[in-house]
Amino acid sequence: MTAQTLAGKVALVTGGSRGIGFAIASALVREGVRVAITGRDKGSLERASRRLQAGRPGSIEAVPADVRDLAEVQRTIDTILGRFGGLDVLVNNAGIGIFSHVADMTPEQWAATLDTNLTGVYNCCHGAIPHLRARGGGYIINISSLAGKNAFVGAAAYCATKAGLNAFSEALMLELRHENIRVSYIMPGSVATGFSGGDEQRGVDWKIGPDDVAQIVLDLLHMNPRTLPSRVEVRPTKPPAK
Ligand SMILES: NC(=O)c1ccc[n+]([C@@H]2O[C@H](COP(=O)([O-])OP(=O)(O)OC[C@H]3O[C@@H](n4cnc5c(N)ncnc54)[C@H](OP(=O)(O)O)[C@@H]3O)[C@@H](O)[C@H]2O)c1
Repeated sequence: MTAQTLAGKVALVTGGSRGIGFAIASALVREGVRVAITGRDKGSLERASRRLQAGRPGSIEAVPADVRDLAEVQRTIDTILGRFGGLDVLVNNAGIGIFSHVADMTPEQWAATLDTNLTGVYNCCHGAIPHLRARGGGYIINISSLAGKNAFVGAAAYCATKAGLNAFSEALMLELRHENIRVSYIMPGSVATGFSGGDEQRGVDWKIGPDDVAQIVLDLLHMNPRTLPSRVEVRPTKPPAK
């Protein structure tokens, strides 16, 4: 991929129906990228797709798919190849946060967190890498969290998955860098979205905006290919005093 233009490239953004993923998909579409978004809920995916299509007909594919299911991921990639002819960028954004003390967390909640935040990323990378190779290179951007570095009470499962995602991303970066496939991970602090059942308007005056994370994705994609900002930490400038 060249640093100059993204127009005509093809991207998959997992969890593109709302929040950070939707903002990333919007930013990519504005750059002329053809974008596939996924999510489990068909209704919200279709609503997101209609909003993204406005003014950019033909550049969006919305595929209901659960990142935890490798067969659904493979089907998504097949759909992208059929529609757009290839794949250049994978943004692993889909993630969940179930915040509970370990003694209270059910095995199902534990498994859902690991399966989504870690296995889901493996599934998408596993499916996408052969197609990035077929294009002669590409970019994988993983949306991690500062929680992968700064643990906090009631977040053991979430912190463990994001710390795991950081290590996964670094190993994958080393594995792929000589094939012109760059891997970066972004570690945001609090972002104003409805994550984990929260109110997306709460803290909107001080939290990171989803569009700001999207801007970092664009900046990474525009970076000269000789350079790889592999880990990006991002935090609110002025969080409320504790
Ligand atoms: N918000 C924050 O403060 C914050 C901070 C740091 C990092 N992050 C990370 O940023 C990413 C996006 O978070 P967000 O705040 O935008 O959350 P969000 O508003 O809840 O959006 C999450 C997106 O992921 C999708 N998703 C969830 N599970 C999925 C699955 N199994 N398969 C496919 N799609 C799935 C959701 O759609 P469906 O529910 O319909 O599947 C939705 O589109 C996550 O990885 C999160 O850990 C968030």
